[in-house]
Amino acid sequence: MKSFQLANESSPLSLSSSFILPEDRRPQFSQVSKLTSIPIIDFNNHGTNNDDGPSPLLIQKLSQACEEYGFFQVINHGVPSETCNKMMAAATEVFELPPEERGKFFTTDHTKPVKLYNFYLNVEGQGKVNMWSESFSHPWNHIEDFIHLLPKNGFQYREAFTEYAKEIRSLMNRLLSLISQGLGLQKDCLQKRLGEEPILKAQANYYPPCPDPELTLGLAVHTDLNALTVLMQSEGVTGLQVIKDGKWVAVDPVPNAFIVNLGDQIQVLSNGRYKSVHHRAVTNKMYPRVSLAMFYGPNKDSVIGPIEDLIDEEHPPMYRKYRYAEFLEEFYKQEGSRRMVKEGFQLQN
Ligand code: OGA
Ligand code: NI
Repeated sequence: MKSFQLANESSPLSLSSSFILPEDRRPQFSQVSKLTSIPIIDFNNHGTNNDDGPSPLLIQKLSQACEEYGFFQVINHGVPSETCNKMMAAATEVFELPPEERGKFFTTDHTKPVKLYNFYLNVEGQGKVNMWSESFSHPWNHIEDFIHLLPKNGFQYREAFTEYAKEIRSLMNRLLSLISQGLGLQKDCLQKRLGEEPILKAQANYYPPCPDPELTLGLAVHTDLNALTVLMQSEGVTGLQVIKDGKWVAVDPVPNAFIVNLGDQIQVLSNGRYKSVHHRAVTNKMYPRVSLAMFYGPNKDSVIGPIEDLIDEEHPPMYRKYRYAEFLEEFYKQEGSRRMVKEGFQLQN
């Protein structure tokens, strides 16, 4: 096994006590359900984007996935596989740069636009427990403003990313439109609510092979704080798990599929009808795993709250309105903990 060195460390990664979770926080693989998997939405099969717009069946399937799982995989999405493969290779190369090269991007300051960092969990009585991963993140709007900050010597990262971001932007627009229609709203409703100049962030995650995956997590349990996430992952390596009916379910990689999940903002906008679901990443002994998440979040000044059309006597508003900046501030305050951000905006009915 090729050894990996975290950018902020001086020796190869080893399973030291700083990575070992207390027993009750470990992944417990024997408890992971093998019976279910998240829905697969086929953009071709259910018919979409002909002159009459998407088929009612597509909208219905997608809506059901959003209500029951908050997660689905999409196939035949129209993003060329070469674009995806190039992006995956480029993202992988970032983590294959020598640690001192990657180290230039390392920071714990979340306000930096381009950054490399390690997630951790604050555990009572034990302090910080590091996640078995490294992440690299940067904005994906206005690429021209920061492209010069991205790695030069990775596998044509800048080029690959520019092309990939363009494709994902149009896929996101299509998804937001379908999700709006699933809620019975005008197709541009969600996009308008999220505002012009949405916050777009990309996050590449690298999970090196781990000698004992039972003791660690690649990414702790969380929900995504944004509105919508489109995730691409290494072919053939599982790692992502989502909660379904109180049980962990592994998301098996499907070739050429994207994993789509709803973030907290869609849960709030839909007044709780669509779910932002807890998920985590586990490690494995054999293979490094790379994932690339593309996040779409509201503009900082957008006011987020349950959409009026979704409120009635039976469905009173579940959340109070807030400026997204307010949500973000609370999010960063809860760094390292199992965040309970949207709960703070919940109304008592
Ligand atoms: C994330 C995330 C999962 C994965 O980046 O928010 O949930 O499989 N990633 O890497
Ligand atoms: Ni996530």
